[in-house]
Amino acid sequence: MKKIVIAIDGFSSCGKSTMAKDLAREIGYIYIDSGAMYRAVTLYCIENGIFDKDNNIDESLLKGKIEEVNISFKLNPETKVPQTFLNGVNVENKIRTMEVSSKVSYIAAIGFVREALVNQQQLMGNEKGIVMDGRDIGTTVFPDAELKIFVTASAEVRAQRRYDELKVKGQSASFEEILHNVEERDRIDQTREVSPLRKADDAILLDNSHMTILEQKEWLRNEFERAINS
Ligand code: DC
Repeated sequence: MKKIVIAIDGFSSCGKSTMAKDLAREIGYIYIDSGAMYRAVTLYCIENGIFDKDNNIDESLLKGKIEEVNISFKLNPETKVPQTFLNGVNVENKIRTMEVSSKVSYIAAIGFVREALVNQQQLMGNEKGIVMDGRDIGTTVFPDAELKIFVTASAEVRAQRRYDELKVKGQSASFEEILHNVEERDRIDQTREVSPLRKADDAILLDNSHMTILEQKEWLRNEFERAINS
């Protein structure tokens, strides 16, 4: 059967990763969480003194070190869930903290960071058979993707989902703090100069504010079947 490229973009915490990951597993495609790559670079910056105490980024230091930042993904053999590795170390949990979430949009707005990560992402898609989620996958990384989805949901619904997710992991944060973070990231992601978050003209819009995970999964599977048969 022919293999295609599936690009899933949208706002933060709108369930993109869950649906993308599940679809990839079902159809035997590779799944890449491009947000995890920006988060891994952010963690690298935190751990290597690239943020100063006022949270300013030393861009020239980062530029000199960006080639040293090696990001890869491996499947957890038991859960089959992809884990993010930074320079050989599993950082899957560390990249999901509020500290990383509050800094990542600034790192993702830097042109040379995007260029380095987009190059790596395009290489990953060379053989097709890939589901990638992010903000600029349908517009910049894979403008020729055979299936493009743009996912959205209200900021309150997305903040509640992130709140529930963190709670399950035993990480504490107030709902207001998370809502503020979601809205702030929306603003930065949509207004940055390089590859701002926007729906590609040929992407299919999905507002999942009032859908269950199962309903979203079915919807995406149907879109995949339609794309593969067209
Ligand atoms: O999907 P996420 O919340 O893990 O993404 C983390 C941040 O990275 C988010 O602020 C937007 C940014 N990002 C991006 O600019 N481009 C992508 N392709 C993926 C994520």
